[in-house]
Amino acid sequence: MKIAVVGSGYVGLVAAACFAEIGHNVICADADVQKITALNQGIIPIHEKFLPELIRRHCGTRLSFTTSTTDAVRASQVIFIAVGTPSMEAGAADLSFVESVARDIARSMNGFKLVVEKSTVPVYTSEWINRAMTLNGASGAQFEVASNPEFLREGTAVTDFLYPDRIVAGCNSQPAAAMMREIYEPLLNGSYYEVPGAIPRPADSAPIPQFIQTNARSAELIKHASNAFLAMKISFINAVANICEMVNADIEGVSRGIGADSRIGSKFLRAGLGYGGSCFPKDVAAFRLVAEECGYDFQLLNEVMRINLDQREAFLRKVRTALWTLKGKRLAVLGLAFKGDTDDIRESPAVAIVQDLLSRECSVMAYDPAAMDRTRAELQHKNLSYVDNPYTAASGADALLILTDWEEFATLDLTRIRSLLRYPIVLDGRNLYMPEAMTAHGLNYYSVGRAATTAQSVNEPALQSLAHYSNNFGAAMNGVPPSTGGEISATTYL
Ligand code: UDX
Repeated sequence: MKIAVVGSGYVGLVAAACFAEIGHNVICADADVQKITALNQGIIPIHEKFLPELIRRHCGTRLSFTTSTTDAVRASQVIFIAVGTPSMEAGAADLSFVESVARDIARSMNGFKLVVEKSTVPVYTSEWINRAMTLNGASGAQFEVASNPEFLREGTAVTDFLYPDRIVAGCNSQPAAAMMREIYEPLLNGSYYEVPGAIPRPADSAPIPQFIQTNARSAELIKHASNAFLAMKISFINAVANICEMVNADIEGVSRGIGADSRIGSKFLRAGLGYGGSCFPKDVAAFRLVAEECGYDFQLLNEVMRINLDQREAFLRKVRTALWTLKGKRLAVLGLAFKGDTDDIRESPAVAIVQDLLSRECSVMAYDPAAMDRTRAELQHKNLSYVDNPYTAASGADALLILTDWEEFATLDLTRIRSLLRYPIVLDGRNLYMPEAMTAHGLNYYSVGRAATTAQSVNEPALQSLAHYSNNFGAAMNGVPPSTGGEISATTYL
């Protein structure tokens, strides 16, 4: 099929490359001249596994890039709208880019077009696109608007696209549904998976995706409700993690115990610093507003958002508990991206925590395997230095903070870390380590939803008494009795 993808952000670029990979002829259009020039030169603007490979494989044959939406539309039967829908002040999605693309499509018509929303949009957007196109001269018989939401995650976007659990086709007519089915046929009949050189199947993927055919409004709701549900799962487990800390239980075991119930499922039950990124924060807020506009007060989503933000505060309280005062402290920060395997820092809990620490006059030595350039472009501060490995960050630091779940941070040389740190304190917002391993390396360890463990540290009596004071202080702040130990085999438990 001849396909246009308008928008070359995460969703647009990945969709364009993957449509080409499964055999379609794709033109990807974006008004950003610099971006398109770079893409035409093979420069990929995002850090995404397999994406450079796919773009190299198809660019110049089945995949091309243009700044002209008109050219892309005129050359295609199906147009996917994948432009940004950023949050406005009150949390509602700004749909002005979507409207502007709808206008451009209407003015470029040269035959029947299936116009497909791929960006995450509120329910009724398909009707608005329809109206905008009609107002701009397209006749109703010349086009149909469908919704085909995308569920890809950053970092695994290409495999999420090619090995999805489901393909949702929100179409208001059978011919439109048939076109959508045809586009995805190589995935639905499994033929793509047999092609030599196909992108390898991830371990936990469904053998064949489900094709879920519904109407456009339902498809729009499926996307918002899916993201809100996943965010709710994360906030739920984070709330449970707080209770674990209060009663000396272990969130990792609790999470395994809950997730083993197949009705609940183990995914998205990792406690940590809360969700960030370009989707969950924006989509939960937007869905809450959409519900309100439709006449439903979705209070549950308010709680999801509140718990999410509280999680950062709770971590900062732990930093204060571990270090007592913050002014003038030197902190090693591992992780800036909103999660591992991406260079994206949008709504990153890690960046929010760094900003808070800087506002308290800490100095921060930050390292991230991929997100430093982006962070540097947005965050400059006299007390913030970017360094090129975890060990330089740890050198002479009063504590080490792990803020992003990069695999690299789960395999640190702890003996080296211990020798470089000024005080043996590690605060892990992502639960990358077993507390016992930290204790064995002489490190005092604070994580999420698990009791803090302190190792016997020789020759540092001042620190021991500080930690004792701080533990009591932290517990008092939480309104519960100070921890007296528990099942974790710390050498010394303060
Ligand atoms: C998400 C959705 O998963 C995807 O379907 C949608 O299309 C876009 O939004 P993404 O934002 O790339 O994808 O990241 P995801 O892996 O879902 O993680 C989102 C956030 O939740 C991250 O900050 C992550 O660290 C956090 N998270 C995730 C947890 O805190 N705990 C978990 O168990 C899972």
